Amino acid sequence: MLKSIVRRTSISGTSRRGFTSGSAPERKVAVLGAAGGIGQPLSLLMKLNPLVSRLALYDIAGTPGVAADVSHINTRSEVAGFAGEEQLGQALEGADVVIIPAGVPRKPGMTRDDLFNINAGIVKSLCTAIAKYCPHALVNMISNPVNSTVPIAAEVFKKAGTYDEKRLFGVTTLDVVRAKTFYAGKARVNVAEVNVPVVGGHAGITILPLFSQATPTANLSDEEIEALTKRTQDGGTEVVEAKAGKGSATLSMAYAGAIFADACLKGLNGVPDVVECSFVQSNVTELPFFASKVRLGKNGVEEVLGLGQLTDYEKEGLEALKPELLSSIEKGIKFANAN
Ligand code: NAI
Repeated sequence: MLKSIVRRTSISGTSRRGFTSGSAPERKVAVLGAAGGIGQPLSLLMKLNPLVSRLALYDIAGTPGVAADVSHINTRSEVAGFAGEEQLGQALEGADVVIIPAGVPRKPGMTRDDLFNINAGIVKSLCTAIAKYCPHALVNMISNPVNSTVPIAAEVFKKAGTYDEKRLFGVTTLDVVRAKTFYAGKARVNVAEVNVPVVGGHAGITILPLFSQATPTANLSDEEIEALTKRTQDGGTEVVEAKAGKGSATLSMAYAGAIFADACLKGLNGVPDVVECSFVQSNVTELPFFASKVRLGKNGVEEVLGLGQLTDYEKEGLEALKPELLSSIEKGIKFANAN
């Protein structure tokens, strides 16, 4: 049987207690799929986050090595690696935030929905364990297709009697990260200052960046906005094709996942006005789940924010995405209830 390993990071000249007192409260973060292409850099970035006091790295294999490696970094958190299903409970127990990048990535020619059958099963089993071992954790779902895996998670939690819509998030931050980068390049503004809401879902045309609300403002033509929209929607495919069979976005996704988890932790810790876009249970449209700006707080979602003013182009995009998004949501619900 594989043994879990725990490595303590000692901070020279400062005891752990001394380091944490007066700063952020104790917070445990679990990464499921931590040995993967996203999981490894994401584990690294979470190790760098001073809001994390315990970091549990879980995968079906390979996590002892990742945990040993990451644990040598002289930052606050204590790192533990867990490998194999028999250690999943230990990895999850006491977690405040669970990040899920477990599953298979897209290969050229595959759509996110092609991944459905494999990843849906993985997500279902991981969420069953979350309901059992850490039912109050905030769940950050990265595994694709997010448009279906989030509804699957919701169904699993409902069946277990632990569902709290405020605690389940589809991570769409990479769409926001891409929209910001591409907008800054086209508008020739400082990328560090850019904000762009991205709403809808997390696949192809369901990704709807609202460039009319982008700041700092710029006078972009309709053609430029259309090209930026398309590039944001196809950002994942751009990476899949460039990697030519070696997977999908991992490094930029790890960055985006770390940004979103950090926002969740800040919300839990009571930091005011933490707003990120996320795919959550929603009343913003007639669809049961929808990505939009969300205010994060001590219980997870504090407020799901509306869409604001849309241009005609954005309104068209919104209507066009609804049937596809609804069918992906229904596919997830059906899977969860049939299997
Ligand atoms: P990868 O194949 O490099 O890593 C996946 C990891 O999941 C592997 O280490 C594997 O052992 C692990 N895994 C498989 N079954 C598991 C289980 N039952 N429990 C725990 N771990 C398990 O894949 P990569 O590139 O890291 O992608 C992971 C997922 O993230 C994919 O579903 C991918 O489509 C998705 N993704 C999501 C994005 C988003 O914006 N939300 C962006 C890019 C990828």
